[in-house]
Amino acid sequence: MKIVFYSAQPYDRIFFDRYNQAGLTIEYLDMPLQEQTAAMAAGADAVCVFVNDTVNAVVMQQLAALGVKVIALRCAGFNNVDLEAARSHRIHVCRVPAYSPEAVAEHATAMILTLNRKTHKAYNRVREQNFSLNGLLGFNLHGKTIGVIGTGHIGHAFCRIMLGFGCRVLAFDLIANKELEAMGVEYLPLITLLQQSDIISLHCPLNEQTRHLISDQTLGMMKKGAMLINTGRGALIDTGAVIKALKSGHLGALGMDVYEQEEKLFFRDLSGDIIQDDLIQRLMSFPNVLITAHQAFFTSEALAEIAITTLNNVEQLLKNSNLSDNQAALLT
Ligand code: NAI
Repeated sequence: MKIVFYSAQPYDRIFFDRYNQAGLTIEYLDMPLQEQTAAMAAGADAVCVFVNDTVNAVVMQQLAALGVKVIALRCAGFNNVDLEAARSHRIHVCRVPAYSPEAVAEHATAMILTLNRKTHKAYNRVREQNFSLNGLLGFNLHGKTIGVIGTGHIGHAFCRIMLGFGCRVLAFDLIANKELEAMGVEYLPLITLLQQSDIISLHCPLNEQTRHLISDQTLGMMKKGAMLINTGRGALIDTGAVIKALKSGHLGALGMDVYEQEEKLFFRDLSGDIIQDDLIQRLMSFPNVLITAHQAFFTSEALAEIAITTLNNVEQLLKNSNLSDNQAALLT
């Protein structure tokens, strides 16, 4: 059984080699999967991809022609995969639905605390022997109202952390979670959540309903000075709209671990390059914006779970490769 592994980073190799107890042949490629690189999967039974690989209808057709039977996402989100095309080519798609919700929820919390208490600025100041506190004023998280959009695995973990801080937690989801309600989380319509929250954190998937969920219109419903955190997917936010809201001062702070055009930037060292993306350059210029490069998942516990589950998914799907048509493209 051979896996061609796209967008491989040094840490991927360490964890996948460590947990490859079944002895699958893994060929690691630094390049992303896209139309120009799909041919590199020749001879593979499965390809392993990450968040910014392109698995559209054209790529799916190329992979099917090469005899690839399984596409294994080593992540939870699957917005970059054309599932209809997978189904029509009888290619199975699997993912890692909940490798470590706490990893992402804790990173969202770290972003809130950094933006609020400005520890990133304090660190640099003190190193330069500047012990002044001017400009570092924060607020107590205790007693604040937090709006959580999407209360699945990650949103659930995030709600529990916020309850632990003594916050009032409001939630919006298609389905209310009874366990969270019992803990005191209040499910409300989206508009009410936007109007009442001091901090809003996005934990829903990216799909046709949620694309640009944060727009001129929804930003206008938010409290003046509110903080917005996005560890979901970049396109949940209309980047142009948040820049406008930051410039006017209506949006008080923005923490983003994901960015609409991140596939051209993230997971690479571009420190010697001229960045052509003017939107991210503008975002990076705001003192109240914190950007991390899709690192919320990045803990050793999560990487171990991702490797174990992905290798197991591939092994099981290849062993049962005569799954019927209607089981094809089933996400585990
Ligand atoms: P999940 O599937 O467990 O939960 C998603 C929740 O969103 C569900 O409760 C669902 O009902 C809700 N939802 C769906 N459509 C909605 C809508 N229109 N409005 C409000 N809620 C809606 O997913 P999980 O594991 O909690 O992950 C959430 C997202 O986080 C993933 O889809 C992925 O995009 C992102 N993610 C980001 C990572 C990072 O490193 N930054 C790592 C892992 C996931």
